Amino acid sequence: MDQAHQGQGIGRQLMNVVMSDAGNRVLQLVATKAGLTLYQRCGFREQYGIGQHQGTLTQIPPFSPRPDTLLRAVSRADLDTICDLDAVAFGANRRPVVRAVFDAGGGVGVLAHRNGRIAGFALARPSGRGTLIGPIVAQDEALAIALIAYQLKATNGFIRVDIPKNAVYLGEWLEAAGLTCVDTVTAMVRGDVREERVESRVFGLVSQALG
Ligand SMILES: CC(C)(COP(=O)(O)OP(=O)(O)OC[C@H]1O[C@@H](n2cnc3c(N)ncnc32)[C@H](O)[C@@H]1OP(=O)(O)O)[C@@H](O)C(=O)NCCC(=O)NCCS
Repeated sequence: MDQAHQGQGIGRQLMNVVMSDAGNRVLQLVATKAGLTLYQRCGFREQYGIGQHQGTLTQIPPFSPRPDTLLRAVSRADLDTICDLDAVAFGANRRPVVRAVFDAGGGVGVLAHRNGRIAGFALARPSGRGTLIGPIVAQDEALAIALIAYQLKATNGFIRVDIPKNAVYLGEWLEAAGLTCVDTVTAMVRGDVREERVESRVFGLVSQALG
């Protein structure tokens, strides 16, 4: 929003319309520092920080994937499975978003199998100054690192990945790769979230706007 229009209640009015349309559904968003107060006033709670890692790759730091992990390039035939896994990890069905990312990246991505089952994936697409890796969905940080490393080997130039800051080991690994954390934003939620134990987690955002 243009600076001249900030602080006049427009953000609050826009949020009121969205929240009213959403009814009693659980809502999640990613807040910049500037937006945090507005969202708190709207009943959103802070969940965790999200680190914006970016730069040019200096090295692929050592990592040790589980021996039963198999990685391969994604294909269009994997899209339904990928979308199902994403929905479990993200907590909502965002099939059109995942399909749009797949198309925007020309189908570039990696899929992980463990014990014959799909255990994670990462997509990549051109964005901003280079390539953005995301979404990244995986069973654990070690797998997320293996997926990112696979993708990094096939990527040149400027790279960006937005990760949850509670994935500490992943963050340190990205720093060692030359992808430094340049900013931190905040994942927020409104409504009663069921703390169910899901098998997969989001380790890389589609974008800060889309989660
Ligand atoms: C952040 C932004 C969306 C807020 O919209 P806005 O129209 O300026 O906010 P409002 O005037 O509706 O204020 C909403 C509430 O938040 C409070 N608030 C907003 N910005 C605040 C700030 N910087 N510090 C303290 N309180 C603030 C207001 O006091 C108001 O509280 P109230 O309803 O209890 O009176 C807008 O300023 C903006 O676009 N900023 C730059 C871009 C950006 O960072 N966007 C956020 C993306 S997550």
